[in-house]
Amino acid sequence: MLIDIVSVFPEYFSVLDLSLLGKAQSKGLVEVRAHNLRDWTHDVHHSVDDTPVGGGAGMVMKPAVWAECLDELLGLEPVDMPQVDPTAELWDEPVVSDGAIDEATIDEGTAKGADDAARPDDAVVSESVSEPAPAAESAAPAADSDTVLIFPNPSAPLFTQRDATQLSHAGHLVFGCGRYEGYDARVPRYYKARGVDVREYSIGDYVLNGGEVAVSVMLEAITRLLPGFMGNPDSIVEESYTGSNALLEHLQYTRPTTWRGISVPEVLTSGDHGKVDRYRRDQALARTADIRPDLIEKLDCTALSKADRKT
Ligand code: ADE
Repeated sequence: MLIDIVSVFPEYFSVLDLSLLGKAQSKGLVEVRAHNLRDWTHDVHHSVDDTPVGGGAGMVMKPAVWAECLDELLGLEPVDMPQVDPTAELWDEPVVSDGAIDEATIDEGTAKGADDAARPDDAVVSESVSEPAPAAESAAPAADSDTVLIFPNPSAPLFTQRDATQLSHAGHLVFGCGRYEGYDARVPRYYKARGVDVREYSIGDYVLNGGEVAVSVMLEAITRLLPGFMGNPDSIVEESYTGSNALLEHLQYTRPTTWRGISVPEVLTSGDHGKVDRYRRDQALARTADIRPDLIEKLDCTALSKADRKT
């Protein structure tokens, strides 16, 4: 998997050379390239932002700088797309305004891509990234279908384990880190119209100073799912938020079984694996109901056993 990250603080990503992601890079499982957006500027000040059209506080990142950078990383020629609706929701169809639909046809493939990217509560994660959207204009060559362009954004759908799983099947991820008041909204819409699989994600209901931390979070969630990344692949199977069960995990203990006067629950030392499994499953269900009732509501009921229903 090739990962390109664009930021005005590319040094931030030097930490990715450490730890398991560093090892995965040495093993050749992933290649991470951090780029400085200012390298695509042409003025003496290397400026990447401008005041918001319509007024207001803060600065907005300029579309032209992003486009020069992203065209290069995505291997696309610069082409004008006057038919792109600058207000279209990325998750909806179409990004191309009605009047232009005839010349710039968006077909079923694009619609499917958008649906895949939305977050159905209980959908099984598909084995690949969404179908590539066709380029909206024949003069503009389409992007590589294995590529996903991702913008962290506090005003976007929440990034979930399901998204991480889906994105772990992509061959090329390009992350664009916004700063200030964010990037010009035409940028993601333009690339979507060019046939790129474009996503915007929030990592939580709080506002960070920029997209860098959010990209690090998403990257870790995605890359640890790559085959060969984890020393013990079993450790990602039983985790919270994984699979149709999507329960919080049961509590874990290690030796000594009594520490500072506190003993681990007796059943765990019984040696009866059936009882241990039942105990852990009951605890996972009870903790989830207490802490994250929203996950219980989303639970695939067919995955519940009769014994679970007694919990
Ligand atoms: N940029 C600023 N805040 C963010 C958030 N919560 N998620 C993703 N990107 C962000």
